[in-house]
Amino acid sequence: MKLVLLLLLTVLSHRSDGFQIKLDYCSNGSSPDLHLHLGLSAVFRRVDPRFLSVTVDASLASKEKFMSLLSSPKMRTLAKALSPAFLRFGGTRQDFMVFNPQKTRQLDSGLPAESCDKVELPWWLEERLKKNWTQQQEILMREELHRKFRRIQFTELTIDLLHSFANCSGFDLIFGLNALLRTADNSWNSSNAGSLLKYCESRRYQMSWELGNEPNSYEKKAGVRVDGYQLGLDFTHLRKMMSQSKLYRGAGLYGPDVGQPKDHRTDILQGFLQSGADAVDAYTWHHYYVNGRDTSLEDFLDPEVLDTLALKTNEVLEKVKLVSPEKPVWLGETSSAYGGGAVGLSDTFVAGFMWLDKLGLAARLGLDVVMRQVLVGSGSYHLVDDNLDPLPDYWLSVLYKRLVGPEVLKVEAFSDFGRSKRVRLYLHCANKRSYSGGAVVLISMNLSKKPARISVPALVSGSTVEAFVLQSDRPGEEGLYSRSVKLNGDALKMVDDKTLPALGGLRLPPSEHLQLPAFSLAFFVLVDARAAACG
Ligand SMILES: *[C@@H]1O[C@H](CO)[C@@H](O)[C@H](O)[C@H]1NC(C)=O
Ligand SMILES: *[C@@H]1O[C@H](CO)[C@@H](O)[C@H](O)[C@H]1NC(C)=O
Ligand SMILES: *[C@@H]1O[C@H](CO)[C@@H](O)[C@H](O)[C@H]1NC(C)=O
Ligand SMILES: *[C@@H]1O[C@H](CO)[C@@H](O)[C@H](O)[C@H]1NC(C)=O
Ligand SMILES: *[C@@H]1O[C@H](CO)[C@@H](O)[C@H](O)[C@H]1NC(C)=O
Repeated sequence: MKLVLLLLLTVLSHRSDGFQIKLDYCSNGSSPDLHLHLGLSAVFRRVDPRFLSVTVDASLASKEKFMSLLSSPKMRTLAKALSPAFLRFGGTRQDFMVFNPQKTRQLDSGLPAESCDKVELPWWLEERLKKNWTQQQEILMREELHRKFRRIQFTELTIDLLHSFANCSGFDLIFGLNALLRTADNSWNSSNAGSLLKYCESRRYQMSWELGNEPNSYEKKAGVRVDGYQLGLDFTHLRKMMSQSKLYRGAGLYGPDVGQPKDHRTDILQGFLQSGADAVDAYTWHHYYVNGRDTSLEDFLDPEVLDTLALKTNEVLEKVKLVSPEKPVWLGETSSAYGGGAVGLSDTFVAGFMWLDKLGLAARLGLDVVMRQVLVGSGSYHLVDDNLDPLPDYWLSVLYKRLVGPEVLKVEAFSDFGRSKRVRLYLHCANKRSYSGGAVVLISMNLSKKPARISVPALVSGSTVEAFVLQSDRPGEEGLYSRSVKLNGDALKMVDDKTLPALGGLRLPPSEHLQLPAFSLAFFVLVDARAAACG
């Protein structure tokens, strides 16, 4: 007989300091297995309101015309639903980009820029660009394989399109400057950045800055070695340039965008902390779980793999706390698999487990912003595919934005038989833009095959639950490879290029049972939890 597992959410007590939920896994009968304690009285920590942020990889500028894809009406619609957020423009190719202004453009300050509704990419041009972009990616891939990167010249157009996209979508733009322009004594040659800043200031573009991408691999990528201490001096130099600009005096500067701790990368961070600590507003590092060319479905569902993020994060936080205990630490670029993602995994339903777990864990561990590589552009870890259609992780991100607030609450799981590593849970206040005070959201993931049911007893007086359960559109293991996702049973699709579907929750009266299918990702909003921390 088929084993039906029940997950019973039983409220044991409802006190002002929090309440306990008993999770019963009943394959048969009702022997309790997992108990949760939800800390509802105090905010455990608070992340940036732009916590879930996104990137556009600099490779999109490898030919300037592709930047126009950011003016696609569909792209604009999809982006808006992810605000507020940072939009980081950067990546390997940022360190090969040189600003080459076309003097024909007036550097007047006859602003403001065109209105957001006016910038629209004609559909026929969009179609052509999308086709050509697919070809372009093959060229980019070859470059990466041979680690031979062409110098990329860009004009005012790149920055105009980028800024328009960010501003009209409600994103705060971060532009990554080229740190591989160096002088004879191996310090940063800032002259090109100087002209870029000047142009941006003339356009009154509100934006913030980074300098260099993964300096730990400069030797591999360009045969140049830059140590952390020197990089810190370069940042100090950039900060000084910014302070001489009226517009960028108070703007953000983030860095050093170093790869995750491993070998000499730790030295880069340590050196940077010595000389660059005062220059930056937040420390950034990059994280990927696995190598895209050498990974499997099993890795994407492996709790041990997911837990490696905690190890790396704690390592970074420890180092930073010694020098700048108050300064925020961000994942400045992050995704499932490096090397452009894992084809057929990073762009399918199964990627959601790594993504949602990263969001949950990063917030709980003490990171303030997580920038997803990439919103759109090269690599299979994109949220929006080459046809500019949203992938499962896009929908997951939109739901996260709508439902999850910046206040992290404690949730602890106790079990009679040890922790169930395949059930992963996080708790936040619900987003106050969507729910009234006191509501909380339980983020949960089940990494295993068997179905489960959640039952919410009537004991929480009037406590309604809104469920948002994401599943693949196909059952079983095969479904994990799907590029479509269902919310509460309905496949998610844009209504048209300007309209997203409603993304409503399933509102359950108290004591109703909830079906939680195998391999699902879920947000349960306890609407009437009356959490003091979320008041
Ligand atoms: C439930 O337990 C009874 C007796 O312990 C057993 O006969 C039955 O097969 C079990 N059912 C399931 C679904 O495990
Ligand atoms: C796309 O590429 C083709 C040939 O590769 C070229 O003729 C065409 O002009 C390109 N279109 C655009 C919009 O870049
Ligand atoms: C967009 O630009 C307008 C006008 O410069 C500015 O007031 C607004 O704050 C900008 N929004 C974002 C998100 O940058
Ligand atoms: C910096 O780069 C500019 C532009 O390429 C060049 O003219 C200048 O001589 C360089 N400065 C130093 C100190 O290397
Ligand atoms: C997850 O799957 C496991 C293993 O099949 C099952 O025991 C458990 O009830 C499920 N839990 C949830 C919360 O879905």
